[in-house]
Amino acid sequence: MRAVVSVGGSVLAPGLDSGRVAAYADAIESLLDEGVELGVVVGGGGVARDYIRTARELGANEMALDQLGIGVTRLNARLLVAALGEQAAPTPPEAYEDAAVAFRRGDVPVMGGMIPGQTTDAVSAALAETVGADLLVFATSVDGVYSADPSENPDAKKYDEIATGELVDIIGDIEMTAGSNAPIDLLGAKIVQRSNTRTLVLDGENPESVYRAIADGDHDGTEVVP
Ligand code: UTP
Repeated sequence: MRAVVSVGGSVLAPGLDSGRVAAYADAIESLLDEGVELGVVVGGGGVARDYIRTARELGANEMALDQLGIGVTRLNARLLVAALGEQAAPTPPEAYEDAAVAFRRGDVPVMGGMIPGQTTDAVSAALAETVGADLLVFATSVDGVYSADPSENPDAKKYDEIATGELVDIIGDIEMTAGSNAPIDLLGAKIVQRSNTRTLVLDGENPESVYRAIADGDHDGTEVVP
């Protein structure tokens, strides 16, 4: 099986805790032992948000802020590379084709951000499409896809299963509300739709849950089905 795992920065390195990064590396290594071919994309988390806030106060424009965010995602990717050692490609690939080359060689490509105007959600979906992944897993701080932003709307309903086409509509509605946090960005959702990739959105707080979702198909998140 080929899988791409998108690990939110806030679940990989909250407070830059090496124990959590090591636990993620363990889960990834266990999956490799099971014969799963893996690619990983890492987000920026609180550190990216801190840098972006500070630079915004200093007058940086949105393009510059995005570049700063990309820099932090690549730093976080390097933390996971450090923990994975020789199992991972030594640097975060900065082109999808470079990631594909690492993947074919049997090294885990650990990517960060790529270009301004998107988030690592889109990178994850694009990497999944590039390597022809059977499964894309978003390990995030939300435990699934909701009908609205659950942090703002207590009546938001969590979906157990939706179709790839429905994902775009749901995310589009949430993104229209200013300040709302969609579990996946709209570009990511559109790439999932066009590539028809089976996708899971789940709580990534515990790396074991990512292992179980991929190895055993056991999870409490939302399944996005082709
Ligand atoms: P994240 O993917 O972590 O974004 O990238 P996020 O959605 O804000 O984080 P989570 O999901 O809550 O953890 C951090 C920032 O890096 C820039 C964006 O500014 C993004 O907000 N970025 C990232 C890009 O501009 N392009 C990319 O391809 C990736």
